[in-house]
This record gives sequence, C-alpha cells and structure tokens, in this order.
Amino acid sequence: MARINENYDKLAAGYLFPEIAKRTKAFLEKNPGVEVLRLGIGNTTEPLGPVVIDGLKKGVEKLSKVETYTGYGDEQGNAPLREAIAKMYEKRGVVLAADEVFVSDGAKPDSANIQSIFSHDSIIAVQDPAYPVYVDSNVIAGRTGKNESGTYNGLVYMECNEENSFFPKAPDQKVDLIYLCSPNNPTGAVATKEQLKEFVDYAIANKAVIIFDSAYSEFIADDSLPRSIFEIEGAKKCAIEINSFSKSAGFTGVRLGWSIVPKQLVIEGALEGKVNALWNRRQTTMFNGASNIVQDGGLAALSEQGLKENRQVIDYYMENARIIKDCLDNLKIKNYGGVNAPYIWMKVPTGLSSWDFFNKLLEECHVVGTPGSGFGPAGEGFFRLSAFGHRKNIEKAVASLKANLKLESD
Ligand code: MLT
Repeated sequence: MARINENYDKLAAGYLFPEIAKRTKAFLEKNPGVEVLRLGIGNTTEPLGPVVIDGLKKGVEKLSKVETYTGYGDEQGNAPLREAIAKMYEKRGVVLAADEVFVSDGAKPDSANIQSIFSHDSIIAVQDPAYPVYVDSNVIAGRTGKNESGTYNGLVYMECNEENSFFPKAPDQKVDLIYLCSPNNPTGAVATKEQLKEFVDYAIANKAVIIFDSAYSEFIADDSLPRSIFEIEGAKKCAIEINSFSKSAGFTGVRLGWSIVPKQLVIEGALEGKVNALWNRRQTTMFNGASNIVQDGGLAALSEQGLKENRQVIDYYMENARIIKDCLDNLKIKNYGGVNAPYIWMKVPTGLSSWDFFNKLLEECHVVGTPGSGFGPAGEGFFRLSAFGHRKNIEKAVASLKANLKLESD
C-alpha cells in the first residue's frame, strides 16, 4: 500500500508566496477594478539588457544548425560558464577550480536539495526569520518534529532581531548544518567579515557545514562587506555557497543559478573531495543540467558589458528601495535593510500581527507586502517590502501609503 510522506503534513498549509497570491486574488474578486500594487514577492520586473538577449538568441541560433546543435550537456553546467563563474570569484580574491562550480536552474532548488547529501540525523540551525525553503526542505526530509506554537521541534532557531541588528551569533550548542543568507532575505541585513568569521570558526571547530545563500550579493554597495563566504579565511573547509542569476541579472523566469562545493570541505566521515563528489553524484542522478540556451544567456550576463547592464538594473531597484525607505522614514515607521539589499524590513507600526497588517495594507492602501511571520516566529510584528518593481508602481505605492495608511487611530 502506497503511503504519503507524512512529513508534508507538518508543513504550514501553503507556501508563503502562493498564500499571498491567493489572498490578493480573493481581495481583487471582492474589489474588482482596484489596482493592487505588488511589493510582495521579490520578483524582477525590468527587461534583460541587449547583451544578455543576444546571448540567449545565440543559444537559440545554435540549435538551428546541425554543426552547432547540442542535446544533453554536462549536468554540472557547460565548461565556459563554470569557468566564467570561477573567474568572477577571482575578482573578489577567491580562487576556485571550475569543477567546484555546479551550474543549476536556480538557487531555490539548490538550497532545497543540498540537505539531501547530509546525514538524516543532522541538527539544523537556521536564522529566524529565514527564507522558508531552508526550513521546509528539512521538514520534508524528516529532520524535524512537529510544528508546535510556530517552531519545529528539533530545529535550532538563531533569532535575528533589532538587538543583534538582524544577524545572530554562532549557536551555543552543537549543530551540523547552518543556513546563512547574506544579504539577508527577508531582513536586508548584511553580515560583516567579522560576523562570518565567527561562524566559520564555529563550523571548523564543530565539523559543521555552513550553507551560505548569497543570491543578493550583487546588491551590496559597501565594498567592506563580503559578497561571498569564501572571502573569509578557512571557509572552503566548511562552507557551500549558493547563488543565482535571478536577482542580479533578471533571470527569475529564465532560471539559472550555481552552487560552489569546495574540494577542501571536510566533514565527519568525508575526506577532501568527497562532499564535492556527492553533490556531483546527486546532480548527475537527479538533474540533466540547466538549459543550453539559458547558459549562453548566463555567459553573456557575466561578460564585461553584461555586468554593466546588470549593474544599471540593480541600481534601478536600489533607487526603488531608497524611495520606499524614504516614505517609511517620513511616516516615522521603523525600518531596516534596503541599503545593501533589495528588501526593506519594517516594524509593524500599529501593534497588529504581521498578517493583520498585510490585510490592513491591502485594504487601506491596495499595497501587497510580505508578512514577517511567514519567514519564522521572530518575523512576527515585522513586514517585508520588496524593491523589485516598476518605478511608477513603487511611486504609486508610496503615495498610497502616505495618503491612506491609518496609523494614529491604532
Ligand atoms: C522572495 O520574495 O523571497 C523571493 O523572491 C522568493 C524566491 O526567490 O524564491
């Protein structure tokens, strides 16, 4: 008799962003014709630059001729793209071999799948709040108990709050896998080199592995902040890094990302090279490689001109972030992030819960954001606004907040 994976029953009914979409749809059904301004999911809106479009077109063109047609490629990604990614790290003083780079169809699947190469009894530590995929993938894999009053038994929550400027200290107990995201989704906080060094030292001392999600690294404007964990001495012995073309090059729908699994990474029972070989085994078994067309686009995005074009779009989103922060400051609403990251993390100003504030913002201002509690218990009382969007929508959203958000009566 077939039975379901009962771990799914431990999860909240719906994944956060579909839940927001569902509630927004219900609102629109009740209020037809209302223009809803979406600052919820971090979804890119601006078109790709001409160099990337050219790269994609070349990829398509190659498929039209017998001489250049390709079918399955290497599961790990095409050599030129792996080399270009390694070269990009070199500019940050990080030397990687191309076979430590694994190209994928995005950071979300990699951050969900990476746990599968680690022991079932691994103790998992996550920042709280955190991108939901880290927690949910481990719940599905059976590494946690039930969710009781908002936290999963067996999971170690590293609280990120105003007191620690939304970046935690290393755990004071022994854990095996630590998920860190910097620039952080959802809080917009960026870890300093010293903060990451503390985690690297902890991981080496405890034979733990850091899964470092740097999907928003290109939004860092302050050069003193690390864009990769491998800028920290010793990190290659204890960290895996996951990154993506989604937010930096507008590939949210195109799909392309990568993971770095250093050969130096050593854990209990796995000498140098073994974890890299395991991820290779996992990918070659369960993944057939990213689309060849998309990889040509990715290669173009990493060219000198491609990087310039990406930079213009990143600057555009960061100007949106400035506009949103400016509005919140004017309304005297406490807010964080949005300087080296595209997310603004605001304190719910009214004493309402995050979801009640979601409803209030939607009803009063027709603005959609993301309730902080959707990212974990420590997110309760906070709310995330995304800077991804057309300028005119961002301007309409802030105008509506200024005109319609009722603060004093609460
Ligand atoms: C977010 O809004 O947190 C992200 O866009 C979701 C994602 O990248 O999967």
